[in-house]
Amino acid sequence: MILAPQPEPASWQLPPAMADSAPPVDSTYNFIFWFSVVFTTVITVTMLYFVVKYKRRKGVPSEPTGHFNRLEVFWTVTPTIFIGVLFHVGFASYIKNATAAEGATEIRVRAKKWSWEFEYPSGDRVPGELTLEVGRPYKMILSSDDVLHSFFIPEFRLKRDAVPGQYSFISFTPTVVGDAQVFCAEYCGTSHSGMLASVKILPKKEYEEFLAKIDKCQGTPEECEPAKWGEKLFVKNACTTCHGAGGSGVIAGSKSPGPKLAGIYNTMQPMATGPGVMADENYIRESILRPNAKIVAGYSTVQMPAFVMKDPQIDAVIAYLKSLK
Ligand code: CUA
Repeated sequence: MILAPQPEPASWQLPPAMADSAPPVDSTYNFIFWFSVVFTTVITVTMLYFVVKYKRRKGVPSEPTGHFNRLEVFWTVTPTIFIGVLFHVGFASYIKNATAAEGATEIRVRAKKWSWEFEYPSGDRVPGELTLEVGRPYKMILSSDDVLHSFFIPEFRLKRDAVPGQYSFISFTPTVVGDAQVFCAEYCGTSHSGMLASVKILPKKEYEEFLAKIDKCQGTPEECEPAKWGEKLFVKNACTTCHGAGGSGVIAGSKSPGPKLAGIYNTMQPMATGPGVMADENYIRESILRPNAKIVAGYSTVQMPAFVMKDPQIDAVIAYLKSLK
């Protein structure tokens, strides 16, 4: 589905809008901009008029002005309403971009000093170039190998930090065929300004050709099939001893000592104390590294040891758990 055939012409202030995340930002920006222009003009002109009109004159005594309550209430309440509306507009589009559409294609984005690497669902990794299909919803899963970076695509009006030791997410649907640009928007060292990647938004047919072309993973077999590698790590670390084969939560016909893992991804998990927790990438990561940070309801007596794993291994185990239904 092509939502718009051609890039919107760049305005004198903004680059072309190339994803569904852009129009709400642009309308908010334009509203704030023209609101500011109008009020700056009105206030400045009024002020200059009063400066001249009420200029101190010889022989004319000054008069105290006193209070005018109705006027003061008016200019306090009116901007508050505008700010409330702006908050609502901004928060609504923030939430929309933070939550992925059902069935969105996941792409892993790894930031490092000083480049971007994109991993497609097939496990193929492509540095420096992000290829997308127009009209397809995407979810980016961002992480950093070293320091704080920030994933910024001006044409999509989207920016999200890539933080070492955790995952952050951003969602969008490209709406226009064409080229865009990834920038790093967080100062991350001497080559920060060169930390760029290109974005290519292709029609469906060309996107499929691209996928067919990259579907020859150049890395090690482990890197190419993260879910399979994750399964090996799962078995090798004896996770099955407590969580059952394939994370089934069942051992020899009865409930396993550790909770069921199959099918929990992206579902709410009830906790032993406090509110439920969404079983996303960050939750799984934390549960591997600090198992007792969040205890699932019904398993409070079980002590799981902390596992020491590197980021690629954790990613592989997460990929495996996501594949379990
Ligand atoms: Cu990475 Cu700045």
